Amino acid sequence: MLLANRHRRHRATQPLLSARFEDAATALAELTAAYQTPDASGAVAYRAGVTVGFVLGAPKPSPLWGPNIWVEAAGLAVVDPELIRDLYAAAAARWVDEGRTAHYVVVPAHDAELVQAWFRLGFGQQHAHAIRPAAPPATVMPAGLSVRRASRVDIPALAQLDRELPLHHAQSPTFSAGPMGTLEESVAEWEADFDDPAYTTFVAEADGRVIGSAIGCALEKSSTHLSLARPEHAGFLGFAAVLPHARGAGAGRALGTAVIDWAVSAGFDSVVTDWRVTNLLSSRAWPALGFTETFLRLHRLIRY
Ligand SMILES: CC(C)(COP(=O)(O)OP(=O)(O)OC[C@H]1O[C@@H](n2cnc3c(N)ncnc32)[C@H](O)[C@@H]1OP(=O)(O)O)[C@@H](O)C(=O)NCCC(=O)NCCS
Repeated sequence: MLLANRHRRHRATQPLLSARFEDAATALAELTAAYQTPDASGAVAYRAGVTVGFVLGAPKPSPLWGPNIWVEAAGLAVVDPELIRDLYAAAAARWVDEGRTAHYVVVPAHDAELVQAWFRLGFGQQHAHAIRPAAPPATVMPAGLSVRRASRVDIPALAQLDRELPLHHAQSPTFSAGPMGTLEESVAEWEADFDDPAYTTFVAEADGRVIGSAIGCALEKSSTHLSLARPEHAGFLGFAAVLPHARGAGAGRALGTAVIDWAVSAGFDSVVTDWRVTNLLSSRAWPALGFTETFLRLHRLIRY
C-alpha cells in the first residue's frame, strides 16, 4: 500500500510513468521480487502498530559498483520523509557489518523532501533517469550536418564512438571507473550484432565524415529503468556520442532527435534515457531535448 501510494503521488507529477504500480497487488509483486533478491535486507518502521515506511536493499554481483548495496525503485516508501533516516540507520548497520560500504539508492525525483532527507544521510546525486513524450522535438538541423541510419561501412567509426563515452566519463568531474574494451573488441561486436533488428543506429555526418552516433531500442533492452521505473511501451535512447572536436555544435541534439523521431514512428508512447549527473555534456544535452527526471540515483561511499 505504501509503495502504491508513493507511486500514485509520483505519477501526479510524472504521468508518463506506468499506472500499473498504483495498484497495491502489482506493487506487492515488485516488492516481493525485491525481497527475494539474494542477500536482500532492510528495515520497516511502525507507528502505533501501523506500518509507516520501509527500506529494502540488495547487492549487485557486478564488481563495477564496489562492495555494494542497492535500494532499487521498489525498495523504499515512507509516509514522512524524515522516517527514511531512521530506516536507513537500522538497515545500514547490517549492510556495513557485511562489508557492503558502497550504497546506491533510486529515489523518486519529484519528492524534494525525500531527496533532502537522503542528502542529510551523506548521500549525493550520481545519476538521473528521465522521460519525455514520444513527440517530435523542434530541432533545426545545423548547416553542414546530416543524420542517417548507419550502414556496415560505418563500423570503424561506430567502434571509435563507442569508446568516446568511457573516455569522457573517465575525465573530471565524472571520474567513472567503468571498464573500457579495445577498439578491436568493439569492431568485432559491431560486426556480429550489426543486423540485430532490436537496435536502430544513427550516424551524424559533417564534411562527409561520421562524427557522432546514437542508438534507439525498446526500453526492455535496458538493464536499468527497472520495476516502478519502467514505463510500458517506452523507447530508449540507449547510447549517443559525438567526437570531441565536433561537440557543442548541435550534432548530439540532432542524433537524439533522430532517436525520438524513430520512437514516434515505431509507435512508442514515451522515450526514456539516463545520464551521470556529473557528465556536464549529457546532463545538459538531454534536458534541452525535453527529458525530465523520473528517478535520481543517490550514492554514498562509507570508510573511504
Ligand atoms: C552528450 C553529447 C552526445 C551531446 O552532443 P553535442 O553535439 O555535444 O551536443 P549539442 O551541441 O547538440 O548540444 C546539446 C544541448 O546541450 C546544451 N549545451 C551544450 N553545451 C552546453 C553548456 N556548456 N552549457 C549549457 N548547455 C550546453 C546546448 O544548449 C544544446 O541545447 P540546445 O540545442 O537547446 O541549444 C556529446 O557531448 C558527447 O559525445 N559527450 C560525451 C559522451 C556522452 O556523454 N554521451 C552521452 C551519454 S548519456
